[in-house]
Amino acid sequence: MKTSGNTILITGSTSGIGLGLALRLQQAGNKVIISGRKKALLEQIRADHPELDAIEIDVADADSIVRASREAAERYPDLNVVINNAGVMPSERVLEADSLKRAEEAIAINLLGTIRMTYAFLPQLAGNNDSVIINVSSALAFVPFPAAMTYSATKAAVHSFTESLRVQLAQTNVRVVELAPPGVRTKLYGQGNDEHAMPLDEFLDEALALLHVQETPKEIVVERAQFLRRAEANGSYDQALEMLSAVEF
Ligand SMILES: NC(=O)c1ccc[n+]([C@@H]2O[C@H](COP(=O)([O-])OP(=O)(O)OC[C@H]3O[C@@H](n4cnc5c(N)ncnc54)[C@H](OP(=O)(O)O)[C@@H]3O)[C@@H](O)[C@H]2O)c1
Repeated sequence: MKTSGNTILITGSTSGIGLGLALRLQQAGNKVIISGRKKALLEQIRADHPELDAIEIDVADADSIVRASREAAERYPDLNVVINNAGVMPSERVLEADSLKRAEEAIAINLLGTIRMTYAFLPQLAGNNDSVIINVSSALAFVPFPAAMTYSATKAAVHSFTESLRVQLAQTNVRVVELAPPGVRTKLYGQGNDEHAMPLDEFLDEALALLHVQETPKEIVVERAQFLRRAEANGSYDQALEMLSAVEF
């Protein structure tokens, strides 16, 4: 992927990894369009960072995605990178009925949102040069976290979808990248101050270095995520699952 001169749209970029990527990529010489479902928050971020553009997108809402793709085609004809980053990570107890609603919401946002965004924005990306779709999965795509079981399942599905998408687009000008973070200090599951999670700036340094290390990598997996990413291949899957099963959430 080009390091500068891209026009980049990032879903769920009102906080955490999405906002961090937005600011870093903008500073590197790209035009960056942040997006989110909270209009007031987008306006506040734009007031603090007028160099960023913004579009409202609720990725759980099919109409919102289609509307945003039309708006983007009009306002940003050079759009060539979409980062599907929006996500939620609810805790779940299968014996508690109210967990089901949270599980369904995680599927709508993390999985269906990524699929709908891909269908909606691909025509524009396919018509531009040097296009890239980056789907944010998780190290938990590779070994599930039982206390967030539907979340883990959505990320495994995002991994699988991204693998197939890369094959389907191999003969086009659109490259497909998977970003699989480890635990990073954001508000995703209340781990903002958790010492076991990676500091956001450290994660962004390593992830962006990997993004630009080759022309376009298939996967961006920082060192801390390698244990889970490689668990099955290394024969440590059972040990990793046992470790994750013991984590309170
Ligand atoms: N941090 C980690 O440990 C970690 C590890 C592995 C993978 N990831 C993945 O990284 C991505 C970013 O997460 P994060 O850690 O940066 O957490 P975060 O700070 O909570 O960011 C998630 C973003 O997604 C947005 N979002 C949620 N639902 C949305 C919707 N329906 N439409 C549009 N935007 C929506 C949130 O906005 P609202 O304020 O409106 O909710 C927020 O901007 C997620 O896909 C997550 O699964 C994170």
